[in-house]
Amino acid sequence: MKYYLTTPIYYVNAAPHIGHTYTTIAADVIKRFKRMQGFEAVLTTGTDEHGQKVERAATAAGKSPQEFTRAISDEFKRQWSDFGLGIDHFVRTSDDPKHRETVQWLFDRWMKNGYVYKGSYTGQYCVFDELYVNEAKPGDACPDCGRTTETVTEENYFFKLSAFTERLLELYAKQPDFILPESRRNEVLSFVRQGLNDLSISRTTIKWGIPVPVEGHHVFYVWFDALVAYMTAVRGLKDTEGHDFWPADLHLIGKEIVRFHAIFWPAFLMAADLPLPKRIYAHGWLLFEHDKMSKSRGNIVRAEPIRKVMGADALRYFLLREIVFGQDGSFSYDALIGRYNSELANGLGNLASRTLTMINQYRGGAIPSGTDEAIEKAACGTIRASAEAFYNFDFSKGLESIWSLLSAVDKFIVEQAPWTLAKKQDSESQAKLDRALYTSAEALRVATALLSPILPESCAKIWTQLGMPEPLESVRLDSLAWGQLRAGQKIGPIEAVFPRRDAKPAIEQMRELEAKVSAEQAVLLGKAPAPSAEPAAPAGPQITIDDFAKVELRVGQVISAERVKGADKLLHLQVDLAEAEPRSIVAGIAEVYAPEQLMGRKVVIVANLAPRKLRGLTSNGMIVAASVEGGKPVLAGFLEDIPVGARLK
Ligand code: MSP
Repeated sequence: MKYYLTTPIYYVNAAPHIGHTYTTIAADVIKRFKRMQGFEAVLTTGTDEHGQKVERAATAAGKSPQEFTRAISDEFKRQWSDFGLGIDHFVRTSDDPKHRETVQWLFDRWMKNGYVYKGSYTGQYCVFDELYVNEAKPGDACPDCGRTTETVTEENYFFKLSAFTERLLELYAKQPDFILPESRRNEVLSFVRQGLNDLSISRTTIKWGIPVPVEGHHVFYVWFDALVAYMTAVRGLKDTEGHDFWPADLHLIGKEIVRFHAIFWPAFLMAADLPLPKRIYAHGWLLFEHDKMSKSRGNIVRAEPIRKVMGADALRYFLLREIVFGQDGSFSYDALIGRYNSELANGLGNLASRTLTMINQYRGGAIPSGTDEAIEKAACGTIRASAEAFYNFDFSKGLESIWSLLSAVDKFIVEQAPWTLAKKQDSESQAKLDRALYTSAEALRVATALLSPILPESCAKIWTQLGMPEPLESVRLDSLAWGQLRAGQKIGPIEAVFPRRDAKPAIEQMRELEAKVSAEQAVLLGKAPAPSAEPAAPAGPQITIDDFAKVELRVGQVISAERVKGADKLLHLQVDLAEAEPRSIVAGIAEVYAPEQLMGRKVVIVANLAPRKLRGLTSNGMIVAASVEGGKPVLAGFLEDIPVGARLK
């Protein structure tokens, strides 16, 4: 049986950020979960490369649209692959003959069915949302994103969307779960009930698009082109039982594009007599400090630094546990590390290493036998509850249920005190010890299997440590039951799966990588010049190693920072250098760093510079920063942890 699901195909006007990663990770989790249910699950994503917004971004980067879209699309592909996401089809709308052909084929079917006519549109258009804003007047803001709309006057082909008002309402009534969650369904219903206007589906004032097979120069409206990508990917493909992959079982999207998916898309398919998708699920927004993340607000967080510092599974777990799927939720580095340490390192990771270490120590690495009935009952309840929650995409609830099993097992181990039982040689104590060890290991196996769609990498490691002979991917949800762990099975080598992380250095590392990735992406988007291979400034006269040794560079940590009255550029710092007293240092970095940003930060200090007075304050040392000619200073720092006072050589 097939299960076909999609993510939106993302615009390539900017590089991916954590919001795109959120949807794509959720889709990967759903795909893995469907596989576990026995479906032949296939996932499509891709990049939406046509339209005015992308055309303008390419011009701004000084590149041709072809060159620009390829570079950004490659960046999306690379990130999904580095995250280990199970993408089966990646559609690039501007570089795929099959896609172009599918778009034109669908348009032909509308023509034959009488749903297209020629007209002209004079009205407002939002380039950011690629949206016709019929109700707006010149100068008005877009009701969706608030940006100023632009006036468009052009000859267009129109799609008779108005003809589908009743059929769409019938669809929503007959299939109440066509749009989920309920709140999004209500939004769509009230919109459609007001009646629908016909929709312009071609543009003549832009070139960057798929040509409409008619006289004159028309390219397709980008949203039509984009939605068709879902079909392009699997057109003509069948599952192993010979069923077509189309229609999609699920289009997973963010809530801001629900109308395009729940109104335009089914109407487009109805007009071509094609099967409709089964479900549109619109999740909420990932907020950063209470605002939707967006480039224009400047509050973007990227997923790559998080993956590099904390691992992909840490991010997957956080996103699905912290945010109730379907609602908005906030991201912060603090919350990410907090959950990692308390729930992954102390929770799952600790239970795994504790259980396996005891099996090694007390039973020579062989799984004993015996079951505690209360834990068995709890585990069976968790299998049912978490499977049902995952089935309803209620990931946080499913995870909660698994974590309550983990804490019940933790409590059970403390109560049983295997370390005390191990010291007693009587057969009753030894049988109790067998029972405690088997019960913990079996509960760990059940939890690992249930968690594998969300934590694939870490669960595979725990699975191997348990010595399981069959691959984790072969576990099917409907046959997962208590008691399948075989007594006598030898466990594998033990290794910590979630080592505890120190919040401060980890956050520092992520922030530093974020700045680096952001600079690389600015180059990709043509917003910053590529760093030259040549040194920026001519190298000065050469010095000997002895000259260098005269400079004493040491690691310091800022313990206080305040602005210097009457001097816009200066900050007065107290820096700990592991000496008897902190150093007072005055630094010209106030235009770039706020005092609170520096608190606790590790910096490099020239420690043997002769003291001097600045604005009446003693400056005893100098802080090391880099800058290009005329640019802003960037403080030197460390990716790895290093103690205060250490000397740089
Ligand atoms: N190209 C269109 C989609 C066409 S689908 C036929 C588009 N692209 S987009 O690049 O703007 O991506 C939007 C999608 O990215 C959202 O619907 C959501 O899936 C994801 N997200 C982008 N930012 C997000 C957040 N801040 N929070 C949650 N999801 C986010 O729209």
